[in-house]
This record gives sequence, structure tokens and C-alpha cells, in this order.
Amino acid sequence: MLVVGLQGSPRKKGNTKYLLSTFMTAAEELGARTHVIDVTQKEIIPCKEYTVCEKKGYCPIEDDVKDEIYPLLREADLVVVATPIFFYNMTAQLKAVVDRCQTFWARKYKLKLKDPGAGMRRGFLLAVGATKGKNLFEGLNLTAQYFFDAIWAKFEGSLAYRGIEGPKDMAAHPTVKEEVAQAAERLLKPFQGRKKVLFACRENACRSQMASAFAQFLAGDKLDVSNGGSQPAEKINSDMLKVMHEKGIDMEFRSPRSIEAAIADNAPELIITMGCKEQCPLVPGAKIIDWDLPDPAGQPIEFMRDVRDEIEKKVVNLIDETK
Ligand SMILES: Cc1cc2nc3c(=O)[nH]c(=O)nc-3n(C[C@H](O)[C@H](O)[C@H](O)COP(=O)(O)O)c2cc1C
Repeated sequence: MLVVGLQGSPRKKGNTKYLLSTFMTAAEELGARTHVIDVTQKEIIPCKEYTVCEKKGYCPIEDDVKDEIYPLLREADLVVVATPIFFYNMTAQLKAVVDRCQTFWARKYKLKLKDPGAGMRRGFLLAVGATKGKNLFEGLNLTAQYFFDAIWAKFEGSLAYRGIEGPKDMAAHPTVKEEVAQAAERLLKPFQGRKKVLFACRENACRSQMASAFAQFLAGDKLDVSNGGSQPAEKINSDMLKVMHEKGIDMEFRSPRSIEAAIADNAPELIITMGCKEQCPLVPGAKIIDWDLPDPAGQPIEFMRDVRDEIEKKVVNLIDETK
């Protein structure tokens, strides 16, 4: 269960930072892994409207959005956007990230690809503003609504505070801690108690990536899925990407990682290996099942397709068995 927070205030120790860190602490107490991206400290180039994303599904701009923010938004179970109101919307730094998520919008609506996390990802908004007007958060709410839609997150509402101006106003608010804790509990409840399954193969470039995407896609609300490799490759396999795209499943923004890193992040109850059981580290209490599938790396694309279909069948059976 990963909670990613986008921190949008440029103030050194201000209200938004307090609000988001209070939320993240509450999330950690509920068992979540958290990652805050302070967008004001990142190298973020605003959208240049090259429109490459709308034709090809990727953004040619090289910066922290590409290297860090896109992958984290794809991995997150819950995305929390936190911002002060600047002229009736989010800050420019945060808006630049939102605009760059046109890439996700294009992959969803132009290329018709579905993110495996679509069925379970949630989005939440934290906001503060100095004035008390009725319309203070209207512009922000609209931007947030369309942002969360583009990143396949169900917009689950907000905690928005009026009359917050001095840097310590939020911390002095009498009910904020309680309200944030309640929101975190409500948002994370659906993710708790899911069975933790790790899919492992050698390079984490084909088989375990496909298995984990199918499992997330078909049963993200029942399974807490991760994946890893005993000898992780540098990048995921391009044929694997193609054959999953044929099924309408978007595998972009993923990178191979080690089994050890996956276990450290999310101690599994069940490990499913793809024919390499002996290379898997022993996790006390975890059951290991081997699916004994051939490695499709370097084989013709038809072979990759067959392995994909075999994996899909096995994942469907696994989901039936865990019901
Ligand atoms: C450039 C700028 C624009 C702002 N625009 C608004 C606004 O439109 N409405 C409002 O109520 N407050 C506005 N504020 C005030 C901030 O929202 C408020 O001080 C907030 O508490 C700052 O949060 P922070 O400490 O997390 O940065 C603005 C502040 C700045 C610096």
C-alpha cells in the first residue's frame, strides 16, 4: 500500500507541508508506505505542447516528471495532492506537474490503454487558503478532478481549510489532526487486509511484470501485488510491452527491481515464482508456489503472446482460489 503525496507549497515551513506530513504520519500508522514529492524542489519543465504524447503516448521532455513522478503516480494506491491556494487554484509548480500528466490523459483517451491500477487507485486533495469566500476552492477542485481522472485515481474528496494565512495557522487549528486521521483511515481502509503477493522471475522484465499487472488489473481490491527479479534487467522488455498493449493494458513507466527491494517494501504472504523457485530468498511465513513458465526474453513475439495468455489464465485461477 503506497501513498504518494505531491507537496505544492514553496514556503519553507508552511501550512501545506504541515497538513501533508500530518496525513502521511497517519497513513504510516495505518501500515502504508509513504513517499512525498516536494514538487517545488524538483526539476520540472512545464508542458511545451509538443503533442508527442497525443500521437505516441510519451513525453519527450527529460526531467524529474519523467524519471520520478510518472513512475510513482503509476505505482501509488493513493495519491494525495496538497497545495495552498494561489489565485484560486494550485501553485504554478504543482500545475506544471498536472499539465505534464497530459501524457497519462493521452494514453488513456487517445491510445485507449488502461492502467492496471485503474480499479483501485484513489485520489485525495488537501488545501489551504487565506480568505473565507464560498468559491475559494472551486477552481482547484475542478483541476484536481480532471487530474485524478487522467491518472486513473478515483477522486475521494478533500480537506480544505479557509482562513489559513500565517505559516503556523494550520498547526494551530483545533481539529485538523483528528480530521486528517479520520480521512486517512477512510481512504486506506479498502487497501488493508488484502493478501500480499509477490511475483518473481529472473529479470523482472517480462513474466513477473505481466503476472503482477494482470493480478492488479483483475483483483487490485483483493490482492496487494508486487514484483521483483533475482537479476533485474535495466529496463522492461519491449515485446512484453507490446503484447500487453494488445490486451489494452498499459505497462509503461515500470522498471525492473530486485526481489529483495520488493520484499523490503511489502513483505509478501505468498511468493509466486515463474520457474526460478530456487533463486528466491526465503521469507519467513511466506508460501512459495512455482508456475514453471518458460522465459520469453529473446524469443519471437508469438512466444511472448503465449506466455502472456498462460499467465493470464493462471492469475484468473489464483484469484478464484483466493476468494
Ligand atoms: C502568490 C499567492 C497567491 C495567493 N492567492 C490566494 C488566493 O487567491 N486566495 C486566498 O485565499 N489566499 C491566497 N494566498 C494565500 C495563501 O493561500 C495562504 O497564505 C496559505 O496559507 C499559504 O499556505 P502555505 O503556508 O502552505 O504556503 C496567496 C498567496 C500567495 C503567495
